[in-house]
Amino acid sequence: MRKIAVLTSGGDAPGMNAAIRAVVRYGISEGMEVYGIERGYAGLIENVFLPMNMRSVADIVQRGGTLLRTARSNEFMTDAGQELAVKFLHKRAIEGLIVIGGDGTFKGAEALSKRGIPTIGIPGTIDNDLAYTDYTLGFDTACNTVLDAINKLRDTMSSHDRICIIEVMGRNCGDIALHAGLGGGAEIILVPEVPTTYHEILSRLNDDRSKGKFSSIIVVAEGACKAQELKDKISTSLGVPVRATVLGHLQRGGSPSARDRYLGTCWGVQAVKLLKEGKGNKVVGIRDNRFIDLDIDKAAKLKREFDYELYELANVVSNSAISFLR
Ligand code: F6P
Repeated sequence: MRKIAVLTSGGDAPGMNAAIRAVVRYGISEGMEVYGIERGYAGLIENVFLPMNMRSVADIVQRGGTLLRTARSNEFMTDAGQELAVKFLHKRAIEGLIVIGGDGTFKGAEALSKRGIPTIGIPGTIDNDLAYTDYTLGFDTACNTVLDAINKLRDTMSSHDRICIIEVMGRNCGDIALHAGLGGGAEIILVPEVPTTYHEILSRLNDDRSKGKFSSIIVVAEGACKAQELKDKISTSLGVPVRATVLGHLQRGGSPSARDRYLGTCWGVQAVKLLKEGKGNKVVGIRDNRFIDLDIDKAAKLKREFDYELYELANVVSNSAISFLR
């Protein structure tokens, strides 16, 4: 394979730049021509290809976001959009494509593979919601960003004996809430995978108060409930000051952690190697600390498993006598 292209699609994630850099530099070092496609599949069907060289990816490994920019394209998901994409790739004699993104991005990769374009997916999303890989690119940095916020909020909340609710991203996945909540010592972690009643939350807070503990941090995953609604309910029931903070897109930015730079770099190289071997229709990932690859359709069929053991452990170490797990 002599000509390949790379794009980022869906929500950006810290570490995407490390992956782009690795694809470009490793590809060129293996004698390939590498193109960057701007704004994901949207740029692909608009024929926006940039020839990349070693210098095009200088000074990006430490930056969040994505040099190639990103988008979510509805048009690409249609037959007409995909035919256009294949036409432009053929016109430039591009033989393989690497896409960096989440499950929506991988659906596009599967479609292109079925249309004869060998395509490799690199998991890039802060949500950590892909079943076949233990970690996705950007998750570690996002958790560290949330941790930083928890530390700062705890300073002020404990000074005022206040309860604080922190809403974090993750779509329908509670991993950011679980990992950052565990690291930040949150008293309560609410995730979509563990349905929790309002009564149970109040019991936990009342239990803390009866032990003389008046300040608590509640981390809620956006897929579990809205911070503002919970804040109103708790302050009405307990008659105490409660504050809510929605961290939002702060979690998507920032300089990638060492771990995300490492994963992005290794996955970028691994993806180029697969294309070099003539393989397509694959996603790369990491399982039990070993780099793996899997057919995209097989990866898509796997069901994500939430780590209930870790969730319970977070509860125990936050010194709660009340378990939310049934
Ligand atoms: O998938 C990444 C993510 O940040 C989710 O955690 C969040 O729900 C969503 O994207 C936000 O999307 P947007 O950037 O379009 O508001």
